[in-house]
Amino acid sequence: MAEQKVRWGILATGGIAATFTADLVDLPDAEVVAVASRSREPAEAFAERFGIERAYGDWASLARDEDVDVVYVATPHTAHRAAAGICLEAGRNVLCEKPFTLNVREAEELVALARGNGRFLMEAMWMYCNPLIRRMKALVDDGAIGEVRSVQADFGLAGPFPPSHRLRDPELGGGSLLDLGVYPVSFAQLLLGEPSDVVARAQLSPEGVDLQTGALLSYDSGALASVHCSIVGGTATSASVTGSEGRIDLPYGFFFPDRFVLHRDGREAEEFTADPADGPRASLRHEAAEVMRALRAGETESPLVPLDGTLAVMRTLDAIRDRIGVRYPGEGVVDDSAEPVATPA
Ligand SMILES: NC(=O)c1ccc[n+]([C@@H]2O[C@H](COP(=O)([O-])OP(=O)(O)OC[C@H]3O[C@@H](n4cnc5c(N)ncnc54)[C@H](OP(=O)(O)O)[C@@H]3O)[C@@H](O)[C@H]2O)c1
Repeated sequence: MAEQKVRWGILATGGIAATFTADLVDLPDAEVVAVASRSREPAEAFAERFGIERAYGDWASLARDEDVDVVYVATPHTAHRAAAGICLEAGRNVLCEKPFTLNVREAEELVALARGNGRFLMEAMWMYCNPLIRRMKALVDDGAIGEVRSVQADFGLAGPFPPSHRLRDPELGGGSLLDLGVYPVSFAQLLLGEPSDVVARAQLSPEGVDLQTGALLSYDSGALASVHCSIVGGTATSASVTGSEGRIDLPYGFFFPDRFVLHRDGREAEEFTADPADGPRASLRHEAAEVMRALRAGETESPLVPLDGTLAVMRTLDAIRDRIGVRYPGEGVVDDSAEPVATPA
């Protein structure tokens, strides 16, 4: 594989599948060779739009395609377990959209499948592959702000999203937490690891998905992370990391930053900006490049987006959902022992 292009298969033909496929064009060593949809027509239309050789009207045919090195799974989250599972079972490597799965049980099943089959698997947490996020993390690890004491991050969209939208549909894992809250939670985890406790409140929709959720994550070190997500309000979508000797502020779009500011106690603020050579700030090319680097190196997990980290994020998302009383169809009833903390709209 070292000399050849990495051959991608795209599974699903929606919004992010199109964005990802378009961004792969920026990587000369990538090639999209096949696409699969739940039916033939959208697959063929997608193949024609992007000049893709093979179009399949079912997922299993793509999974069996020996000329596909890695499949990008871009269905709604409720189908990630099934779609990624079919591919891993057939021997394909997989990059799976965020949130990785609906809950940690499904995530553990996928991780076990990949590790059991020796296949590469990674959550498409593109934030972790962003060059400026990596720079910020390196600064924090080098002690630029001392010991991390707190993290704040939010992601909210104004919408409005009608009840028919994927984000409002319980059958598609709707709500703000899984779709948007996964970014603030993953950001907090990058800096502080897995929390030891979680408290949360939410405003629920009549259909039972969370319109907005606020959560406080606490850590054994005494650190705290405050995360907020919303599909009923366009929040600042910013983040800050405060340490014993300073602070780092990431303005709007913290998970795909084009700049951040380092405030060290007693020093002038320093601004760090993205390298123009890294391409458009919203490009998904960095996560794709990380997958291809790992495949070429014979790695089955990415050190930038490790599977144990993905499992920890899923545990935190499950814990928050437990506190706010959100369960999706097929997941069973809300745990009676959980405190009824959610406030229906
Ligand atoms: N990384 C990012 O920045 C980013 C941005 C947006 C979304 N996402 C994630 O990507 C995933 C897809 O989001 P999207 O915005 O692309 O959604 P979308 O536009 O609704 O597309 C999802 C696609 O999945 C297939 N699909 C729809 N309903 C399905 C079902 N019930 N079961 C199986 N497949 C179904 C459809 O493709 P076919 O008709 O071809 O089967 C549909 O076009 C979500 O998990 C979301 O959280 C990530």
